[in-house]
Amino acid sequence: VIIPVGKTRFHKQMYFSFSPLPHMKIAGVTGSGKSAFMQYLMYYMCSHESSDKLSFIIIDLKGGATFSHFATLPHVLGLYADIDEAEAALGLAHEEMNKRLQVIRTRRAEFKIIPAFPRLVVITDEGGEMSPELAVDKEDAKQRKRIYKHLSSIARIGRESRVNLVYGTQQPNAQTLPTNIRGQLEATFCFRVENEIDSEIVLRHKGAERLPRIPGRCLYKSPMIGEVEIQTPYVAPDILERFITTYPLSTRFTNKQDSVSGGSSSKSIIDFTEFMES
Ligand SMILES: Nc1ncnc2c1ncn2[C@@H]1O[C@H](COP(=O)(O)OP(=O)(O)O)[C@@H](O)[C@H]1O
Ligand SMILES: [Mg+2]
Repeated sequence: VIIPVGKTRFHKQMYFSFSPLPHMKIAGVTGSGKSAFMQYLMYYMCSHESSDKLSFIIIDLKGGATFSHFATLPHVLGLYADIDEAEAALGLAHEEMNKRLQVIRTRRAEFKIIPAFPRLVVITDEGGEMSPELAVDKEDAKQRKRIYKHLSSIARIGRESRVNLVYGTQQPNAQTLPTNIRGQLEATFCFRVENEIDSEIVLRHKGAERLPRIPGRCLYKSPMIGEVEIQTPYVAPDILERFITTYPLSTRFTNKQDSVSGGSSSKSIIDFTEFMES
């Protein structure tokens, strides 16, 4: 899917696709439009791709409220709202990625066609909430390190297996965006940030601290397009609600209904093997 991601001041439409650039970072202060942009991405992708070709894992440690209405979409494998759930979800994504890589290796060795795996997009709304610097004790610190290991593996080798990362943070720094991950999140959407230092971390130069205080205004940077200031699209809540509530419910994920009605739960383990067969 080629996603229109916003317009320049000269009304030029800019686009983004996960296939050349598998991972994305989204930075900006509270209220700058990060979550709305992620919701738009999901809305756009889900309305253009069926759930057997595209799915999402959503990690939202701010209580999960921002994305809760998305949970009923068949594309959404799970909504994970605390640190234990986040670890479990990233572990699943990591495992799925390894399985796919194994398939790729075997097929390649046998000169067989490599399957076009369904895209699996891992969205972390406030990735900084998982940061090791927020650890309250040793165990917590260890868990947070494991989480960042998963993130870094996905960022490093997710491309071929079509496991993609959308990483949002309001507080860009060496803990929330460690260099090994930052470098892999090649597509950058930098909304207004607090100060020059934050801008440097995200964009490698100053300037994003001076963006106007208009939600949705950001600097879009990628190796494909260079850098450009855009205004991102916005899906009004009523349109989003109508889209989600009228979306034909899939019966593919049979254990999904329980996990939705029972709230987000790490027990809602998805049978990823379905992917392998399709
Ligand atoms: N692209 C946009 N165009 C217009 N309004 C927007 C846009 N993005 C966000 N907003 C408005 O700004 C508010 C805050 O955006 P949000 O995405 O929650 O910010 P963040 O996640 O960065 O804290 C939204 O509730 C919405 O009303
Ligand atoms: Mg937000």
